[in-house]
Order: sequence, then C-alpha cells, then structure tokens
Amino acid sequence: METFTGSEPVAPIEWNDSFLLGYGAMDSVHREFVHLVRALQCSPDEDLARCLEAVAVHAESHFQSEDRWMVESDFPARGCHIDEHAAVLASVEQVRPLLAEGNIDPCRRLADELARWFPSHAAHLDSALSHWMCKQNYGGKPVVFHRGMKLSAELARDD
Ligand SMILES: [Fe+2]
Ligand SMILES: [Fe+2]
Repeated sequence: METFTGSEPVAPIEWNDSFLLGYGAMDSVHREFVHLVRALQCSPDEDLARCLEAVAVHAESHFQSEDRWMVESDFPARGCHIDEHAAVLASVEQVRPLLAEGNIDPCRRLADELARWFPSHAAHLDSALSHWMCKQNYGGKPVVFHRGMKLSAELARDD
C-alpha cells in the first residue's frame, strides 16, 4: 500500500453492488469497511480521532477474519494477501499517534488511500478468497446478483 504519498483528493468511497463477492460473511464486513472509510473521509477535524479509531478496530477484526479463513482452509498463495493486510494495519498504526499530536494531514491522506486501495484489493485478492470459501463451504463458486439482476458470476461445477 502506497501510503501518504497521494496528493490528489479521492472522492468519498461509496458502497455499490459491484463490491459484492458472493461470500456473505465477507460481503457484510466489506459493507462496514466502506461505510467506516467513507465516514473517515467525510469527517470534520474534530471527529477524525473517533472515526480513525473505528476504522482501526474494524480493520483489525476484518483482516484477522480473512487471515484466519486463509490459514484454516490452507488457501494457496495466501502470503501476499496476509502481507497486504499487515501493511494496511501498519499504516493505520503509524497515523494514530500523529493524529493524537494534532497532525491531521496524514489521517486525511490515509482515508483517501484506503478508499483508493479497497476496490482493487477486493477485486484481486478478496474475490479469490471469496470463491475459495464458497467452494470450501458450498462446493461451487459464488453466484452474485448485482442490482438489476445482472448475473456476474456463474455457479460453477466443482472444477
Ligand atoms: Fe476484505
Ligand atoms: Fe483482504
């Protein structure tokens, strides 16, 4: 995760059904993540600490769950996914003391960076884990109906 380097503002992230990956436990956590990152991006200065704390608490449990699913199910190539979670948590931990000292810019940049990071992390790493977990639990790839009932992933035979 490239942190604190972005200079261009990022539009507040907004949940949309293209983020749905089909593994329900993950999708509900992702909805909460998007909600909390958006709140951090849109927060007035005086609420930043509270919003950052909420993101930190959420991220720890979000990433711990996914890491545990990967380890317990022996998900292949889990190393880079686990490393990416650790890098994001490290970035959050780096910003907390700065914000406590009254330095809000790193927190603002972190919020934008999280909004920029999530869609690609979800599309590339979480989606593979979602497929894997559905296959482990239900014997098939997830079926995801996006708004408008567009079928984005077909139920696949066990292959
Ligand atoms: Fe995730
Ligand atoms: Fe992840």
